[in-house]
Amino acid sequence: MLIGFVSAKGSPGVTTAVLALAAAWPRTAIVIDADPAGGDVAAGLGRGAWPPASQLLELAVQSRMTTVENALRRLVVRSAEHTPLALAGLGSPVQAATMPWRELGLGLAGIVDADVLCDGGRYVHGEHGNMDLLRACDRLVLVTGSSLPSVRATARLAEVLHVLMDGPTPTLLVIDPGHPYDPIDIRASCGGDGIVELPHDPRTAGVWSHGDAPGRHLDRTPLQRSARRVAAVLASAGTAEVTS
Ligand SMILES: Nc1ncnc2c1ncn2[C@@H]1O[C@H](COP(=O)(O)OP(=O)(O)OP(=O)(O)O)[C@@H](O)[C@H]1O
Ligand SMILES: [Mg+2]
Repeated sequence: MLIGFVSAKGSPGVTTAVLALAAAWPRTAIVIDADPAGGDVAAGLGRGAWPPASQLLELAVQSRMTTVENALRRLVVRSAEHTPLALAGLGSPVQAATMPWRELGLGLAGIVDADVLCDGGRYVHGEHGNMDLLRACDRLVLVTGSSLPSVRATARLAEVLHVLMDGPTPTLLVIDPGHPYDPIDIRASCGGDGIVELPHDPRTAGVWSHGDAPGRHLDRTPLQRSARRVAAVLASAGTAEVTS
């Protein structure tokens, strides 16, 4: 299964959510940093010490000589015991226009013995974006905060995706619900075929976004406990509904 995660404006926590969910995924999960604005995994989770070849541009190059699946297997790394398998992203936003997003999407969607979680970053329209990769996804997750600006921007993006994408209807993922809007209000504004949520947990978020040390009980933190529940429903084929 190929799952794409994308946001409107305001950096609600897409990269953090993708890594937290992949670490709690019920099957083998591979994270791909496919943010068209340039990747964050190498500098964040990897703290700048990521293996240079383990990145999306190299996947595009090697996929010309073999299948996307074979190339991906060679390139993904697990940077530490607590982290999921991952491929870092683009070095520059300029590279997004040259990426074979459609071919990568089709190749990734064909992988059967692992689920691929793509950090699609903030949605960018047109040739500088990754729309063709998002279109190939089996499930699309629209990540949002719960503030008015965040929900407004997400509602606008949901409309754009509905008109343009002819892909799956997005599932909403609310980060830090209730400030002030709760998932019921957010779903009423944004639509979506289901809604899930992750809590505000800056300490654990820092493990994924900045490569902070995980501590001894990462699995028991609020973010990872919720991530396990959300991962279980996103990994299943049906409608996702996990809210408190
Ligand atoms: N659930 C959370 N609880 C608390 N802080 C969080 C949470 N998720 C993310 N953050 C923090 O918010 C900041 C932005 O997170 P992140 O980089 O994941 O956002 P993003 O949506 O991927 O942003 P961008 O659009 O820049 O790629 C980081 O400092 C991260 O630690
Ligand atoms: Mg990000």
